[in-house]
Amino acid sequence: MRCMLIVGARPQFIKVAPVRRALLAAGHHAVVVHTGQHYDAQMSDVFFRDLDLPPPDVQLQIGSAGHGEQTGRMLIALEAAMQADPPDWVVVFGDTNSTLAGALAACKLQLSLAHVEAGLRSFNRAMPEEHNRVLADHCSDVLLCPTPTAVQHLANEGIRANVHLVGDVMVDALHQGVARAATQSHILESLALQPGAYAVATVHRPANSDDPAQLARIVRALGELALPVVFPVHPRTRPHLAAYAAVIESSAIQLIPPVGYLDMLQLTQHARVVLTDSGGLQKEAYCLGVPCVTLRSETEWTETTAAGWNVVVGSDPAAIVAAAQRPRPATPPAPVFGLGDAAPQIVRILEQFHDNA
Ligand code: UD1
Ligand code: UDP
Repeated sequence: MRCMLIVGARPQFIKVAPVRRALLAAGHHAVVVHTGQHYDAQMSDVFFRDLDLPPPDVQLQIGSAGHGEQTGRMLIALEAAMQADPPDWVVVFGDTNSTLAGALAACKLQLSLAHVEAGLRSFNRAMPEEHNRVLADHCSDVLLCPTPTAVQHLANEGIRANVHLVGDVMVDALHQGVARAATQSHILESLALQPGAYAVATVHRPANSDDPAQLARIVRALGELALPVVFPVHPRTRPHLAAYAAVIESSAIQLIPPVGYLDMLQLTQHARVVLTDSGGLQKEAYCLGVPCVTLRSETEWTETTAAGWNVVVGSDPAAIVAAAQRPRPATPPAPVFGLGDAAPQIVRILEQFHDNA
């Protein structure tokens, strides 16, 4: 099979790595197309290095723009790439504008389309990702779901054919990354952090980063934690934090540039608590047995909250501080995102569908 794997944003470089590896191991051909949605070295190149990925086969260099312009320019460029060398499969990942553009381009060219991380729902239509996921799911030929909840969401929308529960490819990547992080990452030493005695924070959802009142509450809460807080800053959030420079300066919050995958795994694994609005980081904290505080009003990853490993608090400072100080749950996290074999399962499903087509 010849597969075109569409990526563009940081979490997608992580998700594509195990899928590409499994395709190649099964003797298939994989072309990685990078839309250029994320382009800073610390948002893109570092992940290709950390995940042992060669540079993308095709780089479309679309860059940043408003949703319509960015998605539209990606659609035009992806359609041309697909027409130049039509694959047996187009595979899209997650819920970014790159996902939606890849899905639409494939669907309009009547190419077989598979969606990895299908069926996720926040039920919050104010999130750009919610539109992207719903639309990508509804035009996919094969839907690859990380959890039974995702399968159920699709069924509720009438999508029952070619829906497969495969687990989460981020767990595959995590299993492959943790051992390498332990030997290759020196971030704890370079930031002088004691394992178990610091917090990690990330913020990049527009509802937090682009809303000054919301961001002010989150910064205040981080400053009130009785722990040093390492905060790798997403480029969307960086300019908005300038308003709080004085508060941050006088607190135990340490702003650092975005870090690579192995450094992030190392930071997360040894943290006392993670505070985040990231989808991927909620899952990684859960899988690594690190308590998480989700700085949003809802989560797609409801499984992480069941045994208390993740608490969804929004932006109220007192609630954030209380959640960060809660004791660790007594029971270890159950393997609700699979066993780290989602990628080989995905390859088998694509093979079966292709053989039967
Ligand atoms: C995007 C995804 C989001 C995902 C996140 C992962 C959409 C709608 N959003 O959000 O689902 O969780 O990626 O991190 O697809 N910027 C840079 N350098 C870069 C990339 C971005 O400076 O390399 C800045 C630009 O000012 C840009 C802003 O960040 O306008 C936002 O980037 P964009 O890719 O549009 O959205 P994200 O917030 O990164
Ligand atoms: N991540 C990283 N460096 C950082 C921040 C996050 O490597 O500085 C990783 C994180 O561990 C997770 C992924 O990026 O694997 C999540 O990406 P992000 O939070 O940008 O997007 P989301 O998952 O919310 O779509």
